[in-house]
Amino acid sequence: MASIHHSWRFVCCIFSVVIHCGSAIYHGYVPSPWTLAHATFYGDEFASETMGGACGYGNLISNGYGTDTAALSSTIFNEGYACGQCYQIRCVQSRWCYAGYTTVTATNLCPPNWSQDSNNGGWCNPPRTHFDMAKLAFMKIAQWKAGIVPIIYRRVPCNAIRKGGVRFSFQGNGYWLLVFTMNVAGAGDIKQMWVKGTKTGWIRMSHNWGASYQAFATLQGQALSFRLTSYTTKQTITAYNVAPANWKLGLTYQAKVNFH
Ligand SMILES: *[C@@H]1O[C@H](CO)[C@@H](O)[C@H](O)[C@H]1NC(C)=O
Repeated sequence: MASIHHSWRFVCCIFSVVIHCGSAIYHGYVPSPWTLAHATFYGDEFASETMGGACGYGNLISNGYGTDTAALSSTIFNEGYACGQCYQIRCVQSRWCYAGYTTVTATNLCPPNWSQDSNNGGWCNPPRTHFDMAKLAFMKIAQWKAGIVPIIYRRVPCNAIRKGGVRFSFQGNGYWLLVFTMNVAGAGDIKQMWVKGTKTGWIRMSHNWGASYQAFATLQGQALSFRLTSYTTKQTITAYNVAPANWKLGLTYQAKVNFH
């Protein structure tokens, strides 16, 4: 825990430097204030139930998210715009707490269950802010026997845990390109996406669900470029020729660029 603590301090320092330098172009995402909420866990210690999830990241292990993930209550899931955001979570005010905190990525929705009381089982019912963590992530902040613990959380930049460029996973068919955007650094989230084939202009994509965006267009046989705008920071980046002209559905392509 101590080392995680230190590396985050280090990241914060870098961010403060950028801001104080007044480098006029772009200010990286800075952590939000700590806020009180609660956390539970789901799945088992093998993380088998953490596969899939409402963001559409598929296999979280092979796609680089690991087991440090959480399902967010709809109040903060924000219809999927929270997908990919990074949160530091620390257990507080409970005898089951461990010291230190862990950093998780939002990969899933914790849906409301109105047949349970919001203060007794219906933890994810609005307007509650709740983190249903993968069990292994929960076990870093508290003893799992606790079941539910009070926590403090804050949004942090994802840069420390997202290395390399943004990844684009292609689904759909010949007339419909559905793209799942993964490994997003900076604020971790996406507000808008565009795609451009070598024979087309920029095509504005629409939000499908979770972290996926779609274009109803025939783009086969063209190298594809993508433009993305961050939901939180509004920063826009362009990834040219991410996929070669012979791109295929079912494959994932990695850009050289990412958010800061
Ligand atoms: C909602 O809660 C009820 C009562 O505990 C439970 O039987 C049901 O399975 C829950 N529904 C979902 C979708 O989890």
